[in-house]
Formats: sequence, structure tokens, C-alpha cells
Amino acid sequence: MSSAPFDMAKAALDAAEARFIANNPLSQKQHELAVDALPGGNTRTLLHTSPFPLTMKQGRGAYVWDEDGHRYLDLVGELTAGLYGHSNPIIRDTLLSTFDNVGLSLGSTTVQEHKHAALLCSRFKLERIRMANTGTEANMHALAGARHFTSRRKVIVFSGGYHGAVFSFPNGKAAPNTVDKDEFVVVPRYNDIALAVDTIKSTPDLAAVLVEPMQGAGGCIPGTKEFLRAIQDAAHDVGALFILDEVMTSRLAPHGLGVELGLKPDMVTMGKYLGGGLAFGAFGGREEVMAVYDPRVEGSLAHSGTFNNNTLVMSVGYEALKRVFTEEACVELNERGDRLRERLVQVTEGTKIRFTGRGSLIGVHFVDEAVEVITCGEDIQGKERRDLRDLFWFEMLEEGFWTTRRGFVALILETDERELKGFVDAVGRFVERHRDIMAL
Ligand SMILES: Cc1ncc(COP(=O)(O)O)c(C=O)c1O
Repeated sequence: MSSAPFDMAKAALDAAEARFIANNPLSQKQHELAVDALPGGNTRTLLHTSPFPLTMKQGRGAYVWDEDGHRYLDLVGELTAGLYGHSNPIIRDTLLSTFDNVGLSLGSTTVQEHKHAALLCSRFKLERIRMANTGTEANMHALAGARHFTSRRKVIVFSGGYHGAVFSFPNGKAAPNTVDKDEFVVVPRYNDIALAVDTIKSTPDLAAVLVEPMQGAGGCIPGTKEFLRAIQDAAHDVGALFILDEVMTSRLAPHGLGVELGLKPDMVTMGKYLGGGLAFGAFGGREEVMAVYDPRVEGSLAHSGTFNNNTLVMSVGYEALKRVFTEEACVELNERGDRLRERLVQVTEGTKIRFTGRGSLIGVHFVDEAVEVITCGEDIQGKERRDLRDLFWFEMLEEGFWTTRRGFVALILETDERELKGFVDAVGRFVERHRDIMAL
């Protein structure tokens, strides 16, 4: 291919970045202050963007405002945890009334933690559940439980899988900060049944297979029903546990994506929005397996965490799931997401933009070649165009849409169809404006 389209893309990106710098002096200043206390001015790597991140000041309803006063439709949705939006009255009332009538930390078991646990069990079809503070912790405890239950050590995961801050497997390898790095075996392609089953059957000392039913951080790539069922069966054939990481995906169907796909995991991990906007994680599953955490049983595992049953999160997580994200609301939100994805696909036909995902979660990819279906990150490796991805991010900001730089959209309940149509129109204008560099 001639270098002209790349030169044009570079010129467009340089110009967009220059406008970004000119439009956001207060965010830039805040970044320059923050580097004095935080490495790189950051305490959550994902949120770092070059030349500097936007600093948000406020969220209201479906919108966020940055320090420089620009308003954006919130399509980041706190990477799925922000499902309830910024101003839900039930969440507000529950937070205040818990503070007033219960208090913050009782240092004891409470009725409320049982209520939330029972609701989670019945909604997500689990026999027993335990709480934690993050999805990372949920996975950590689930893996410890699986190792204890099976008296084995190894865990199979998939390239592109993300199971938390210290359990990340990009490009077929455990990231350098992975805990118990040598205990993981990474299958080099998600959705590849033969490769996965072979690996499961040939890995000695296998305690568990840990998988997302749709890879989230890995690009919103759904697992096929056949693939997920095959690895579940193969895990059981070799006496290993099948652990489904639903930290992102439990919101995609009324009882979670695993139930929707007919899976029967031994354990499920969850988190994000299920704390109603506060820090939360949970892991649950079969009674027999979860009994490894029963303190009445001699030799059981300890599971500690000062904030595991924090009064605010137990109350707000419960009320929000019971009264706001009802099964009906879940179906409606995900249908809204499917309609959005269909419209986005239509307005970008014949271009380098590809949308993946399911329901209310959407992955945005920029790929130089026509790829029929993206079944795993490896399908588009070496074909991705980061320059176009960055250009899209800068220009969507200018249009008033807050998306993640890496190309991920998570809808929140408060966003309506009219606002989403505005996003589709903006994407349409983007591809028109850059027809020469965006065409396949
Ligand atoms: C599938 C999956 N598992 C686990 C986690 C970790 O959750 P947390 O960020 O709450 O630790 C995430 C976070 O994005 C996730 O997407």
C-alpha cells in the first residue's frame, strides 16, 4: 500500500492532538501537578492517555464534565461498573440512609450481607457465595479455593484474558506482574476448541480452567457456546474445576451470560456494578466447592477482608440490583446495546472500523484488512491501526462523547436512544470526514 493514507492519518492525528492540547489547559495543568505524587500522574494505568489524560470533575445522569468545563455523554460507564449512571435516586437514598441508620463499619456479621448474598445467589443461580472488594480479589479467592478443593496447582487461561490487576494474559503470555505466574498455562487463541481441549487434556496437575464468556479487556470478543461448553466438559473430564469470570458479563443477561449460554460452572466470579457503584467483588458456585471456605470445617481456607461486608456496599449493591437493574431492565439495556451496535456497523460499512461485543458492551477495533469475524485477538494481530483508534478518540471527545482510548463502550442505564443516535451520527461524520484513510 502507498504511504499516502498513512501520511494523511498522521497529519489528521497530529492536528487532533494539537486541538486536544489547546482545548484542555486545566486537564493538562492537573496532570503536571499529579506527577509530583503519583508515578506518571496516575493510579490506574488504563486511564493514562498521551499527551495527558482528561481530568473529570463531575458526573450527573448520563453525562460527565471535565475540568475545562466540556460535557460528554458517558460511554465509558466505568468499564461496566458505572451501569447505574451518576444520579440514581435509589442509590443516593440507600447510601444516605445506611450512613444515618446503620453506620459505616460494624465489625460484625450483618443481616444485610446475607440479604445481598441471597439475592446474588438466586439471581445468578449459585448455591453459595462470598464477597470481596474487587473482581481481582474474587478471582484470587476462587483460584485458591479451586486449588484447595482439587489439591492441584495449575490453571489454564486464554490469550487476551483479563481476570484482574494481577491476572492478565495479553498476547499469549502472563503479564509480568501476574501472581503465581508459573502456575498458569495460557492457551494461545480464545475460541479455538481443539487447541483448548488439547491443552486441558495434556496439562498435568490442573486445578481449574478460568475463562470469560466474553473477553472484555481483550476487545469485547464473545466466546461461542460450543467453545465454552467444550472447555467446561474437558475440564470436568480431567477432574478440574470450570470457573467462569463474569466480572464484566454478568450484566449481559438476567442471570448472567453463563446461564444464558447453558453453562454449569463450578464457580463464578463477579464484581463491578454489583456493588451499586462502590468497590465490590464476589465468588460463588457449587455448595461442595464453596465449602472449602466454611470456617466450621476443620482445615478450611481462611478468607479475610476488612471491607468484604462493608455496610454501604452491602446495602447499595442489594437495593440497586433488586430495584434498579431488574431482570426486565437488564433485557432492555442489552437490547438497546444490540440496536446501537447494528447502527454503528451500518454507518461504518466498508471502512476499517469493526465493532464487536454483545448487548450493552461494545468493542471498537480499527483493522487494515477485511476480517470476517474476530474470534480472538490473534485474528487481528499486526493488522490493527492504533493511529486511527487514537484519532477516533480525540474526535469523539470533540463531538462530546467520552469513550475509552482503547476502544470500549459500556452503556449505562440512564443513556437514552436519542443520545445514542447522536453517537451514531458522530461516528458517521467521522468516517465521512476521513473517507480516504478509513476506507478499506
Ligand atoms: C473479566 C474481568 N475480571 C476481573 C476484573 C477485575 O476486576 P477489578 O477491576 O474490580 O479488580 C475485570 C476488570 O475489568 C474484568 O474485566
